[in-house]
Amino acid sequence: MYNLGFNRMAKPWLHPDIIYNILPDKKRHDDIVLHLNSFIKQCIIESWQRRKLSVKKDHNFVPVIDKLGEYIENNQNQINSEDFMNHLMTLFTAAFDTITIISSFAVLCFGMYPEYQKKAVEEIREIIGENTPPVTISDINKLTYLSMCIKDVLRLFPIAPYILRQTQEDYQLDKWVIPKEAAIVVGIFEVHRDKAYWKCPDHFFPDHFLPSAVKK
Ligand code: HEM
Repeated sequence: MYNLGFNRMAKPWLHPDIIYNILPDKKRHDDIVLHLNSFIKQCIIESWQRRKLSVKKDHNFVPVIDKLGEYIENNQNQINSEDFMNHLMTLFTAAFDTITIISSFAVLCFGMYPEYQKKAVEEIREIIGENTPPVTISDINKLTYLSMCIKDVLRLFPIAPYILRQTQEDYQLDKWVIPKEAAIVVGIFEVHRDKAYWKCPDHFFPDHFLPSAVKK
């Protein structure tokens, strides 16, 4: 779906529905939507079964879909089932690929720059140790160097290299006026690699996020 979407975004001649709808991509698009919808429906059924049938649990973990399902059952006038499905789809697509890709890039950066990996590992050993009970949020908050590393990974490989916005009113930007309802592309990738802001724009360099550098 991402491939189809980005391909269409990058090729203006695929934008009008009248053209897109007669191409094989549209058929693939519809098949994927169908598949995703049945996946989300299946997740809702499984969530219902977990909550209503006494499924034996060996842990206290409650999936977010179960919490949302319960909330919606108790507040039925607030959201209809179609919106609920759409929100679940947003959550699923927003959550799964992002974490996978950013984790992979973090591992790649540590592999390419072992000196920073060493520092991050030392910090983890110092704060969490080798064999401890489950890691807590308070432990995680103390991992300041690891946090700097992850921020620099997000800088180098922004998951959304470009985001879209629409102006609500005329907006004066220097000598230009961006008119109301204009479509704006925010070039996050370019800003993240701009020599004006970053000491080593094309390298993994966690010191970009030292408190003193951030302050500047
Ligand atoms: C490394 C991990 C992640 C990164 C880098 C990331 C990045 C982003 C970015 C840049 C946006 C804004 C897009 C825009 O403004 O146009 C966004 C939106 C969002 N993200 Fe994440 N995200 C991550 C993980 C997650 C996770 C784990 C969840 C949910 C559990 C999540 C849920 C959302 C939701 C619900 C939106 C709003 C989507 C919408 O309104 O269309 N994200 N994320």
